[in-house]
Amino acid sequence: MASESEADMDFVSMPKIEIHAHLSGSISRQCLHEIWAKKKAAGATDLEDPLVVMPVDKHDYDLNTFFPLFSSYIYHLVDDVESLTYSTKAVVADFANDGVVYLELRTTPRAMPAAGLDKAAYVQAVLDAMSAAQAEHPSIRAKLILSMDRRNTPQEARDVVLLARQFCSRGVVGVDLCGDPAKGDVALFTSAVREAKAGGGLGVTVHFAEAECSASEAELQTIMDWDPDRLGHVIHVPDHIKQRITAPRLGGANNSVAMTRGLELCLSCNVHAKMIVGSFEAHHFGEWWRVAGVTVVPCTDDVGVFGSPVSNEWRLIQQHFRLARAEILELARKGIDVIFGGEEEKQRLRNIMWQRLND
Ligand code: IMP
Ligand code: ZN
Repeated sequence: MASESEADMDFVSMPKIEIHAHLSGSISRQCLHEIWAKKKAAGATDLEDPLVVMPVDKHDYDLNTFFPLFSSYIYHLVDDVESLTYSTKAVVADFANDGVVYLELRTTPRAMPAAGLDKAAYVQAVLDAMSAAQAEHPSIRAKLILSMDRRNTPQEARDVVLLARQFCSRGVVGVDLCGDPAKGDVALFTSAVREAKAGGGLGVTVHFAEAECSASEAELQTIMDWDPDRLGHVIHVPDHIKQRITAPRLGGANNSVAMTRGLELCLSCNVHAKMIVGSFEAHHFGEWWRVAGVTVVPCTDDVGVFGSPVSNEWRLIQQHFRLARAEILELARKGIDVIFGGEEEKQRLRNIMWQRLND
């Protein structure tokens, strides 16, 4: 990239991290179609072709049409080990081919009773598929975050944390709280989050102020009391909560290390789903990317639905916020600070990105 100017930056070959990507939402329509075609040929599905249900150029899913995509379609199609393995491998390969060198996928543990899988077997199958995909694409390292869903009971949420602990040594690095922002009461998850943080080893990330209905004073204060390591979306945030987000944090040995909070910002998702007013140039990325105390990481959220790979998210950032090449590379490098994958992985990524900075 030595002679590369701002205008012709190659965002696919730029080494990137992706830390907010939901597994089921990251499956491409082509991959869903392949799974469907195989099942259809075997007489194993009555579902309609995913290319009909989700036309290739349709990306304008809003909060009302987005969540039913999973509960009424994708979860019925990806409902056995074979389709779960096939789609997980394809998702990791897609990220690798887009130049992602470190991926944190997240998924909500889901039993597949017809296929005889409980939630632990689901997590095991996803991890196995991720390992297989990494063997085929050695440029990428992929870790897993387990999501609690806002509709979970407190016990179900604690079970997700237990699964995360159980699979810690196999590549689970954190827990998330996601799901339909119109549902649930976050206060019910306080004990699960406490359990996740106890003993260290698991990062905590939370979908935060994603919609007006999930941005009440009580909800935002409850979540900030958890002191999450990272926040996703961060849209409907009043100034006094912004101050809590950027307040200094200490961690590490004897609470002596200054830590920054990660902000996982998803431009295309927020624009296509009309979660913000206006288009890309109005996105709050513009407000946050230089703020001290936080580290902004551009992420895709659900590239299978919104259709914008993370290389394109960086292109959009350059186009709409006019970052210089050095600023882009510095921001990409800074994201390493907030991964959940540990110090060794951070060092590997710093080496990769340092090389690129000096190219
Ligand atoms: P999965 O957890 O791998 O099945 O990925 C799909 C699930 O992720 C959906 O059913 C939602 O619960 C969750 N999800 C995906 N995108 C979003 C989002 O933007 N906000 C909240 N939850 C989301
Ligand atoms: Zn998300």
